[in-house]
Amino acid sequence: MLELYWKNATDKGLKSRRHGITETDLAGVSRRIGRAHRKVVGQCKAGKLGYAKLPAHKTYPADVLKLVRKYKARTTDLLVLGIGGSALGNLALQGALRPATYNLLSKARRGGPRLFVLDNVDPAMVKDTLDFLRPRLATTLVNVISKSGETAETASQFMIFREAMRKRLGDAYAARIVATTDAASGTLHDIAAAEGYATLPVPDDVGGRFSVLSQVGLFSAAMCGIDIGALLAGAAEMKQRVEAPLRERPWRKNPACVLAAIQYLAFAKKRKPMHVMMPYSNRLYLLADWYRQLWAESLGKRFDRKGREVFTGPTPIKALGATDQHSQVQLYREGPNDKLFVFLEVGKHPREVTIPDAFAEVEGLAYLRGAGLGKLLNAEKLATEYALVQSKRPSVTIRFDEITPRSVGEFLYLYEFTTSLMGELLNINAYDQPAVELGKQATFALMGRPGYEDLAAEIAPFAKTDPNCLA
Ligand code: PA5
Repeated sequence: MLELYWKNATDKGLKSRRHGITETDLAGVSRRIGRAHRKVVGQCKAGKLGYAKLPAHKTYPADVLKLVRKYKARTTDLLVLGIGGSALGNLALQGALRPATYNLLSKARRGGPRLFVLDNVDPAMVKDTLDFLRPRLATTLVNVISKSGETAETASQFMIFREAMRKRLGDAYAARIVATTDAASGTLHDIAAAEGYATLPVPDDVGGRFSVLSQVGLFSAAMCGIDIGALLAGAAEMKQRVEAPLRERPWRKNPACVLAAIQYLAFAKKRKPMHVMMPYSNRLYLLADWYRQLWAESLGKRFDRKGREVFTGPTPIKALGATDQHSQVQLYREGPNDKLFVFLEVGKHPREVTIPDAFAEVEGLAYLRGAGLGKLLNAEKLATEYALVQSKRPSVTIRFDEITPRSVGEFLYLYEFTTSLMGELLNINAYDQPAVELGKQATFALMGRPGYEDLAAEIAPFAKTDPNCLA
């Protein structure tokens, strides 16, 4: 079970009323937390928040498993094409729940196909992957994921791999493609229907960054042997915990309410606009990447719900313990005190390694002999937390007892629900992303897409390099 420990975000933990959250701060936000919780729970119960339906959905997991049964035995390599919300969840699940060396293991030890998630149009990365897969195309399955079906990056990758498969497999290529897209309309939907691909629908009411527990994230996870039933059960457990009425479980015992209160107060009252998520586990590192998108796209907004210009939103940052102790912690302790730290800590790591009983005669290494690396890593976490406290830098810790599909499911739902609460506290719409549009349209214009000629003309002078500014 996941736990949240938050003493080191408070004035008592930090011995600083200026940087730590005080009882007065908590009392001041208590009614707003209550209102936010009532509203978000009300929206979940009324079926207005699509992501909240996913942990206990009646048909989605079964649909996914049906396709997994159809393809798994005949697939050596699974290629996921998607970007943003259509890739980050897949990467986070695979990173957390499968070994780092997964793709290098034998098929029997992997328990599923090799997995490649291409979430960029970097030509070298795409070509390297294409070269690797070319001799295996007959047993490669392409899962193209795009809710809109129009995203330039995903569409271009898809055109490349579809062409390679078509050349190699002839008409049989269509049977090696699963399209995860809108169920009713859109470019990818239409292509899938015309060419006869298997499809999985992206639920209409679930935005990309909230879609990890839908068909978007579940298919690649289940193909690679992750227990999606346990993942969803963990999410359902957290859902029950965070959505419980506050009269039954006071908000200070509700991890989502506490997390939202602390992250909000740190941002709005304690001048901490930077929110660093720092897992002390490589397995959990990509969860921090997933969190970055969730937090940035949901909370970074120009206007509040009344249309007032607010330019709000904490900046999510990812760091890795212990690695970044040797890279970032100098800044974190002695740079501006503008950060809140969210540590992810693991009670029992998935694997353990004992440091050998070597160098008995070397005094400086004696303390390491016979210790487990898990003990060392967790000591480093506590040491960093302690060092940050000495510098009056606030932190909270999310404790995973173990890294399992269940605890990862709990984490995902915890952060999704907390994001909804943060949207209420900041009084912004947490479910749109209007600022992403201009860059997408400018790309269309620069690539010559019909209908974007005016924008192309507007960009032309901007695209010219000014020699006065070239050094
Ligand atoms: O969270 C989001 O909405 C975005 O990150 C999208 O997931 C991303 O832009 C990809 O969109 P699509 O799935 O429509 O290709």
